[in-house]
Amino acid sequence: MDAREMKVKAAEAALQHVEDGMRLGIGTGSTADEFVRLLAEKVADGFKVQGVPTSERTARLCVELGVPLKSLDELPELDLTVDGADELDGSLRLIKGGGGALLREKIVAAASARMIVIADESKVVETLGRFPLPIEVNPFGYKTTRIAIEKVAERHGLSGEIRLRGTEDGPFTTDGGHYIFDASFGRIPDAEALATDLNFIPGVVEHGLFINIASFAIIAGPAGARTLQA
Ligand code: A5P
Repeated sequence: MDAREMKVKAAEAALQHVEDGMRLGIGTGSTADEFVRLLAEKVADGFKVQGVPTSERTARLCVELGVPLKSLDELPELDLTVDGADELDGSLRLIKGGGGALLREKIVAAASARMIVIADESKVVETLGRFPLPIEVNPFGYKTTRIAIEKVAERHGLSGEIRLRGTEDGPFTTDGGHYIFDASFGRIPDAEALATDLNFIPGVVEHGLFINIASFAIIAGPAGARTLQA
């Protein structure tokens, strides 16, 4: 089974949890895209859902494939969100934001009664931190915010490059108009404490540590899909 087939397997298993009439948060990324494709097939067969997309990219795919969308303000409470992750551990702590959609992803997931993570085996780690931690910041004073992030990292015994995401043409901007720092801290021994301290920094809009948000994960490997509970 190749990587794409594993993503499809996880997406298929998640789709089993989607019921007719649900208000559904729809994630961002290549795994979430597979979920959207499968969901669109069901919708074409008459299945009813109202989707709230976690990014402009996902919104475009849903519109293209005919998945009905609402804004989060039209549907402020959701039944279920299905989304990918860049990394997850055995306690269902996640790193998200590789695709730059972490802020909307976290708001949508937190607005949902349940969140299912869909991922392939390569995303499961013993301790978070192999994937650089995305930290979304307001462009105003972003260099000052970066210094504050460095100080928090130092207090946590973390080092490593904190890189502004972008190209030579300029910084990457999120759907909300913010910048992202990718922090290559390596192993994060206390993700909860780091999350709390990052939340206190003025200028940090959101970070990619998703803790106590996922209900369970569907992990696809070469032998098929398994469920990971905390
Ligand atoms: C988007 O911002 C991310 O949080 C994605 O959920 C994450 O990057 C997973 O993407 P893939 O499914 O493409 O690996």
